[in-house]
Amino acid sequence: MNFKEELSKYAKIINTELEKQISQESCPEEILNRSMEYSLISTGKRLRPILMIATYQLFNDNFQKCFPFAIAMEMVHNFSLIHDDLPGIDNDDFRHGKPTNHKQFNEATAILAGDGLLNRAYMVISENIMNGKEDVELKIKALTEFSFAIDRMIAGEYVDTEFEGKEISSQYLEYMHQNKTGALIKASVRIGAILAKASEDDINCLTTYAEKIGLAFQIKDDILSEIGDVKKLGKPVGNDRERGKVTFVTKYGLQEAQRMLEKIIYEAIELLRIYGEKATFLKELAIYIKDREK
Ligand code: IPE
Ligand code: IPE
Ligand code: MG
Ligand code: MG
Repeated sequence: MNFKEELSKYAKIINTELEKQISQESCPEEILNRSMEYSLISTGKRLRPILMIATYQLFNDNFQKCFPFAIAMEMVHNFSLIHDDLPGIDNDDFRHGKPTNHKQFNEATAILAGDGLLNRAYMVISENIMNGKEDVELKIKALTEFSFAIDRMIAGEYVDTEFEGKEISSQYLEYMHQNKTGALIKASVRIGAILAKASEDDINCLTTYAEKIGLAFQIKDDILSEIGDVKKLGKPVGNDRERGKVTFVTKYGLQEAQRMLEKIIYEAIELLRIYGEKATFLKELAIYIKDREK
């Protein structure tokens, strides 16, 4: 199987698991449920759950064991996107090639759909802990990683809004990216490794890999926001600049941002060398982050 096929095989597995979470019940909050489904069932890349599963598979083949955390991570990611698009934050009208949640429904519904997805994520994890008697301590450890990462993502989103239209130091810019985007990516890798009972040394090495691809992912997001193809991206281009957002491109220029991206991805790949062929997919995933068009 080549990389693209493997990537879409993983995405299909995640999509099937996500669909199982959707309620078809008729109830007074039916529209709220539909708005959560609207954002969750999408053409999103499913990068975070894929990273979690692929990391788990470095150590253990039985990857179904990390499904609850993988699904929960994708729910939180979609919560973050719904709120990120709101008029009070980025005020964007398109995501995944369709109107953003607040445009399709309304602002109140979008705020609550985000809250709902965040809480559903914790419900999926707590049910998993309650229902499975094994590895409870490991799961609590993973849950701690999970909640800490969400705290950091929210902090990063705050810093992003705070610095809109202002000058930013390179340290603050990196801090913002590491938190708003890097935190969930890092936690996805760490949770995969923790659940697979990886050693401390392996967890530390993969954490550094994850920190690098997390930062690289947002640098690429900044680049695509300048020169991406709206049709492929499914979200607006030029919007960061319009809103006076500080990004790697506005701070360093396109060429330098691209150079930094390439350097970080190279460093991330080097860290995987010790795992040999087993890490081929994670290596290609790093390259995909650099070269992606959406
Ligand atoms: C977009 O993330 C928001 C950022 C954190 C940069 P993704 O590019 O992973 O979102 P999907 O693939 O559309 O879900
Ligand atoms: C989104 O960052 C980060 C989170 C949602 C946590 P951006 O605002 O830069 O991402 P896009 O470009 O809207 O996807
Ligand atoms: Mg934003
Ligand atoms: Mg945004």
